[in-house]
Amino acid sequence: MKDLIAPHGGVLIDRVLRGSERDAELEIAKSYKQIRLDNWAISDLELIGIGAFSPLTGFMGRDDYESVVETMRLKSGHVWSLPITLPVTREQAQTIELGESVALLGQDDVIYGVMEVREKFSYDKEREAEKVYRTTDIEHPGVKKLYERPDVYVAGPIWVLNRKEPKEFKEFYLDPVATRALFRDKGWRSVVGFQTRNPVHRAHEYIQKCALEIVDGLFLNPLVGETKSDDIPADVRMRSYQVLLKNYYPENRVKLAVFPAAMRYAGPREAVFHAMVRKNYGCTHFIVGRDHAGVGSYYGTYDAQLIFQEFSSEELGITPLFFEHSFYCTACGNMASPKTCPHDESKRLTLSGTKVREKLRNGEMLPVEFTRPEVAEVLIAGLREKQKA
Ligand code: ADX
Repeated sequence: MKDLIAPHGGVLIDRVLRGSERDAELEIAKSYKQIRLDNWAISDLELIGIGAFSPLTGFMGRDDYESVVETMRLKSGHVWSLPITLPVTREQAQTIELGESVALLGQDDVIYGVMEVREKFSYDKEREAEKVYRTTDIEHPGVKKLYERPDVYVAGPIWVLNRKEPKEFKEFYLDPVATRALFRDKGWRSVVGFQTRNPVHRAHEYIQKCALEIVDGLFLNPLVGETKSDDIPADVRMRSYQVLLKNYYPENRVKLAVFPAAMRYAGPREAVFHAMVRKNYGCTHFIVGRDHAGVGSYYGTYDAQLIFQEFSSEELGITPLFFEHSFYCTACGNMASPKTCPHDESKRLTLSGTKVREKLRNGEMLPVEFTRPEVAEVLIAGLREKQKA
């Protein structure tokens, strides 16, 4: 059977060096000038390398950067909504010659990759914040991160030489090439991708299962890279996903694998980015619900759906599936949304993320109509463990 869906840009990028080629490059890289990457950039490096960010082959140069910021497209015309850039200090930028290869180090001093520096350029943080995040408010976690990063972007093609070894849940780290093979083996002709940075509550489950009614498989793909500190930690979430799937999902229709990216909280633009990346993992459909990738009240409830109108279905390739704000309705006696439920707000069970986290941290179970009890138990135990540590 042929591949389900073409990767974004047509070719699945592979910039991971292996075997003797990798050993030789690593040896040479020890003599290169070094750039130390933050956790964001390290995860971006790896995601470029494994093709999750196809068609990107490196950190963005000025033309792509400008084009992405202004038009949500690469200069080639391909849809791309977030800058993928590598910032360094002005002092460091001055020491690097164009054309020179540099070693890309993690905070742990491991050389994770190399980059041939083709460009250096300064950028306007306020403009990037306004365009990408739709706000310049420093309280926004993505904007805060942008403002904290150094001032000059260095750009060029990369090669990955080492990858972070997952401490736990190794079997859930699958590269796009592996998920594509898996979907093919399962005979899934259509696969819906689901992004989340939260535990899967009943509303998430509802929209996933609504989507699964019309496609062959569900790819539950929680983001496990850097998130803000009050989000539920990824290891606790991973345990909760497993117990949920075991008890409530058909095994032959669902695949759980992690998305090792950093969360930008860029709302609408991040929704488009999330969709493109899931296409690279082999998904044909992608769920966008209420306030996707949002934080606080920076974005309208459905802004992350409206943004898709700016692209044709041909250029997206992947089909977004939009869902309205879902809840449990006590009058209907089931999960519903404003689209399917005639009752008023007083019948609808909704809890804010803050309230949910507060309850869980206090060891309180959540209503079964909100969260499966097995999930709540795992979350309470996990958070208790973290508090002790
Ligand atoms: S996100 O930052 O990863 O988008 P979250 O994990 O809460 O946050 O959401 C995962 C997906 O579920 C997103 O597409 C989001 O829009 C959707 N979603 C979350 N809660 C609801 C809800 N109550 N109703 C409909 N969609 C929802």
